[in-house]
Amino acid sequence: MEAVLGLLVILAGMTHGLETSCDAREDGCQCYAALGGTVYLQLTETTAYDKYSFYKVSTGAKTEILKTRMDKWSIIYTPIKERVHFFINNGTLKLNNTRRNDSGEYLFEKYDSEGKLIGIRGLQLFIESPVSSPQLSSECLSHGDMKVSCSSEGDGPQYSWTLDGQTVRDTDAPPDNKTNTITLKKGLSGNLTCTIRNNINRNTVSRRISHCPGPVFNVFVYFQLAEVFILLTICLGSYCFYKKKTCPQEQDDGE
Ligand SMILES: *[C@@H]1O[C@H](CO)[C@@H](O)[C@H](O)[C@H]1NC(C)=O
Ligand SMILES: *[C@@H]1O[C@H](CO)[C@@H](O)[C@H](O)[C@H]1NC(C)=O
Ligand SMILES: *[C@@H]1O[C@H](CO)[C@@H](O)[C@H](O)[C@H]1NC(C)=O
Repeated sequence: MEAVLGLLVILAGMTHGLETSCDAREDGCQCYAALGGTVYLQLTETTAYDKYSFYKVSTGAKTEILKTRMDKWSIIYTPIKERVHFFINNGTLKLNNTRRNDSGEYLFEKYDSEGKLIGIRGLQLFIESPVSSPQLSSECLSHGDMKVSCSSEGDGPQYSWTLDGQTVRDTDAPPDNKTNTITLKKGLSGNLTCTIRNNINRNTVSRRISHCPGPVFNVFVYFQLAEVFILLTICLGSYCFYKKKTCPQEQDDGE
């Protein structure tokens, strides 16, 4: 029971609380975080002797989010107060329950003790939906080929396939849709794996596939054959019937 509960907790954690960390100590860093998850942004090593401000930039305007002064920090922008924590010991900002509109450009500014700007660093944050566990489905085509589809939810999924460890390149769809389909030539079998990844995470699904049956007569063909047979029988039957009726007469006439 406890094991089951533990597993449920882990699963819930995986779908709701995906955690990502990003080292944003260089100018122009790009950081990716899972929608609804938690992101740790390391902005600097230590904040001990300087003053810092962290801003969000949107349409040219700067909104101050966080301010640090020596060993103290405070959230300036109240709407996100509940979701932000700053670790002053290592200069890491934690943001939780991320939303789509947390995406965007941020600035981290450093001031000297007189309040003069001495450093500025930009950072781009992307909040994206992680890829879910993929679903595989397969279908036999009439001439023995097999169509296999792999699908998942999430932003910008990239699909890749392997059959017994060998890359399969024969994909039918553009590689960034909800569903990706490949066609396996007649007679192929083995362990097929579909991997989906995006900027946040990756997920994989494998299945042993056995080849499709080759071409077979379908029901329709049987019906058509039966039809031809019946018609032939009727023709032959009526021909014989006619022959039987007329032949003896001719014989009579001849005698
Ligand atoms: C994160 O989210 C929970 C609620 O889901 C909240 O209690 C907590 O204070 C939040 N903030 C941080 C920085 O962890
Ligand atoms: C910063 O410190 C916090 C709390 O001490 C810790 O949880 C976190 O992992 C640290 N981050 C880094 C990047 O060292
Ligand atoms: C961001 O999105 C949330 C809903 O996901 C909304 O409540 C909030 O007002 C939005 N914030 C801004 C600044 O648009």
